Amino acid sequence: MSLESYTYSFPIWIEFGVGTSENVGSIVEQKEWGKALLVTDPGIIDAGLLDGIEESLSATGIDFAVFEGVEPNPTVSMVEAAEALRQTEECDFVISVGGGSSMDVAKGVTLLATNPGEIADYEVKSGEDVMKGMIENDPLPLVTVPTTAGTGSEVDFWAVITDEEREFKMALGQSPLYPGGPYLGAEVSLVDPELTRSLPPRQTAATGFDAFSHALENHVSAVSPPVLTPLTTDVMARVTEYLPRAYEEGDLETREQMLFASHTAGIGENFGGFGAIHSLAEVTGGMYPEIPHGEAIAAYTPAVMRYNLEAVPERYGEVAEAMGVDVSGMSDREAAEAAVEAVEELIASVDLPAGLADLDVDEADLPGIAEKSMDTFEIHDNPRPADAEDLLDVARDAY
Ligand SMILES: [Fe+2]
Repeated sequence: MSLESYTYSFPIWIEFGVGTSENVGSIVEQKEWGKALLVTDPGIIDAGLLDGIEESLSATGIDFAVFEGVEPNPTVSMVEAAEALRQTEECDFVISVGGGSSMDVAKGVTLLATNPGEIADYEVKSGEDVMKGMIENDPLPLVTVPTTAGTGSEVDFWAVITDEEREFKMALGQSPLYPGGPYLGAEVSLVDPELTRSLPPRQTAATGFDAFSHALENHVSAVSPPVLTPLTTDVMARVTEYLPRAYEEGDLETREQMLFASHTAGIGENFGGFGAIHSLAEVTGGMYPEIPHGEAIAAYTPAVMRYNLEAVPERYGEVAEAMGVDVSGMSDREAAEAAVEAVEELIASVDLPAGLADLDVDEADLPGIAEKSMDTFEIHDNPRPADAEDLLDVARDAY
């Protein structure tokens, strides 16, 4: 499929294509949202990625303030600092320019601005929390402009914020529960491959593999509807083909393909379930904030696949097929095992960690990680039921 520019709405208004980020001024002018809070990090500013956005806003007379205090694995205090600046500057809506961390901080601000209490009050702990919805009032309008191809947060209804006291990454969010219901996500997303071109190889690999893992977990999850299958297999095929090239060359074509894959995976996240990969990786990231999310994901993925594959071998066989493995003549089990090998090859091809030891995780922390992972809501979606003892085995296998 060729990737020309296109626009659609679902309820997020999405514009995909080179140059779409420069439409931000004219779009928010039409919306008459008032003054913007730009949420970003210093790296984005240094790379000049904010320039086009600021020019577009200025050209249409949109006033804005900039919060540039986002750091990887964002915390509650980061969200509170951004919200404090929003109040001081009297901003009426939020634009995030950056990767998943900027988008998650921005989502936290839009939530706090219109709802009572604290971020932790909105933590999603179970499928029931997701279904009943925890957000009373519409968050402030949000525009997302992603600069990485991975998170999918630009088009999903979720945020992940670390509670520093518990060293725990909280999941927040809800889908629109009925037409017009509140949701924690963008109202407009400008998905511009040009902004991902300067992403360094290490982040390209980590964020790109994160996108793969979203499709993988959605594909095998116990709670995903079959309607997702064409989407998840397309994402896995595309990442397998283009991530090594984006890592090596980073030309515009491979960036476009990766951004297409990651944001369609993000749309899928709204309809499908997750599993033990994200449970274990989020818990590890909460305890080791210096580990990038995508690297923790890579370290756990093969071990979780090995644990899960006896529950849904045919689904893992489809993963192998999507990744270009010739599965003809293989049993479901053999094809599933071939999927694990193909994933290990993909991880190695972009120099991602082969295990937790590569990330300097202390082996003595594994029981605690397994225990805490049982508190994540994603673990309930895993295709094979797991208790803390099972997860400890998986974590040891991933070491
Ligand atoms: Fe992820």
